Amino acid sequence: MATVSISKQLLTKVLSSYIILTFIVAAVQLGYTYVTVKNQIIEDLKQLEQTINVSLTQAVWDISDIQVSAIGQGIAAMSLVRAVIITEESHQVMYQSGELDGFDTKKFLTPSSTTLQHNDLFGYSTSLIYDFSSNSSFGSSNTIGHIAIFSSDELVFQKVGAQMLFPVIGAVFSIILLSFLIKRLFRNLLTTPLETLSHGIARIDLENLGQARLNPPSSQQDELTTLANSFNLMLVKLEEYNASLEQTKLKLVNANQQLDRQNVYLEQEVTKKTANLSQAITELAQQKNELEESEQELLASLTQLKETQTQLVQSEKMASLGSLVAGISHEINTPVGIGVTAVSYLSECVRTLDEKINDKTLTQKYMTKFIEDANSGCALLTTNLNKASQLIQSFKDIAVDQTSEAVRDVNIHQYLHEVITSLQPKLKRTQHKIEIEGADDIVIHCRAGALSQVFTNMILNSLIHAFDKVEQGVMTFKLKHDDEHVFIEYHDNGSGINQESLDLLFEPFFTTKRGQGGSGLGTHILYNIVTQSLHGEIYATSELGHGLNYFIKFPKPKGIVEQELEQQGKGINKKEA
Ligand SMILES: Nc1ncnc2c1ncn2[C@@H]1O[C@H](COP(=O)(O)OP(=O)(O)O)[C@@H](O)[C@H]1O
Ligand SMILES: [Mg+2]
Repeated sequence: MATVSISKQLLTKVLSSYIILTFIVAAVQLGYTYVTVKNQIIEDLKQLEQTINVSLTQAVWDISDIQVSAIGQGIAAMSLVRAVIITEESHQVMYQSGELDGFDTKKFLTPSSTTLQHNDLFGYSTSLIYDFSSNSSFGSSNTIGHIAIFSSDELVFQKVGAQMLFPVIGAVFSIILLSFLIKRLFRNLLTTPLETLSHGIARIDLENLGQARLNPPSSQQDELTTLANSFNLMLVKLEEYNASLEQTKLKLVNANQQLDRQNVYLEQEVTKKTANLSQAITELAQQKNELEESEQELLASLTQLKETQTQLVQSEKMASLGSLVAGISHEINTPVGIGVTAVSYLSECVRTLDEKINDKTLTQKYMTKFIEDANSGCALLTTNLNKASQLIQSFKDIAVDQTSEAVRDVNIHQYLHEVITSLQPKLKRTQHKIEIEGADDIVIHCRAGALSQVFTNMILNSLIHAFDKVEQGVMTFKLKHDDEHVFIEYHDNGSGINQESLDLLFEPFFTTKRGQGGSGLGTHILYNIVTQSLHGEIYATSELGHGLNYFIKFPKPKGIVEQELEQQGKGINKKEA
């Protein structure tokens, strides 16, 4: 698209507006001048008519055609007059000159004064009034004729033309001058600086922005100067931007290089890691196999461990049985020893008696002494054999209970005494005491061995652990019961244990005497017997230095008859169901 300069555009627009405006003003002025000139001419015509009015009226009154014609010609000769018509009162034309074809005198010439228009002629008509009062006895005035004087539009135009010539020439001249001036001004103020700017901008070289700097196009601080300054500012910003772009480019190149290096490194790492990974996978598979094997082994060990635990529990039982046996042999030793001494003393007495009989030295006195000795020997023998027999019986009961699963009626109070008797070998040489309080009439149908193990474990643990450093320990049993349950409370006033040990007390293999004969199974067995064999509950409390307490509660086992009845009841229920 071809460029059209701003100054040209402005010039065209400003000038055309100016010309249109000038034309409008000129047209208004022309119209105004036309009307003014025309009115002026009509005024002049009136003036003329007034000048000749008296003489013409007189001439018409006198009906002097010659005089009327002379006056008419005189008027017609005037430069601004184009036509004249003079009539009598009856509209009979007395004089006429100019182009008045088709002018109807009756229509236009009225008794009053008026302006007229006929074709391109315009004019003024008035009536000729004769004043009778001055020279006759009529005593009034009257219309005696009419006169109409015409000028033409052409004359008006001529006058207007003459009046408008100079203003029009002035306007045209001023338009030319103005256009020249405006063009010059526009060129100086706008086009040239703009061209300078656009050349400057066109010169922009991104590589050398400094060169494209613009000088302010004018010394004045105007919009173009601001534009140039802004452009220069933009160049500075561009330079800065270029610099930062350059730096970013450099960084980018660096980063790219680093990225390439890292890529290479990463690829190497990936290769290495892949190798490692496959090795790790192989190792993992191996480990899995090994784990599976060790799991098998662990399972086997667990089974073995369980077996061992059962064995250990068994051997713990056996151990207490062993100590029982040791006790038996120790306890029976004394009465049997006394018995043996008594028997040998008796056989010695018998042998002496036999000798005395053979020697025939037997006296009455000796015989009496022999019988006394024999009697006391026999008595000693009987007492000690009875004692031994009693001991054996009680040991036998406990031992049988401990090894058999037999269920029988047990009086807890009595049975506790029997257990304590069986533990005499351990208690005898100490100063510890066992006290039994509470009900002595609790009889339950249960596995006596279970009960004996419960009591034995509690007493032995107190002897071994609680009274380790105590001379005169006291162990107390409290026996209670209601319709449903049996309650056994046990207390020793020994060393007690701390909270940490208390939490582990019933755990299997927990012992503070490992390597000194402790297996850590005693309390575990105790717990299992109470909870499983006796279907009860047990808990322990203790405080370091204040002894240890057990609280046992278990339901009274039902007698055989009741159990059988219950079994039958269940059978019936099942059948019904
Ligand atoms: N009456 C008690 N007084 C103090 N400590 C006790 C008592 N009874 C048990 N213990 C503690 O509980 C631990 C576990 O007892 P137990 O299971 O019978 O194993 P063991 O007697 O073989 O050590 C004992 O090692 C001891 O530390
Ligand atoms: Mg123990």
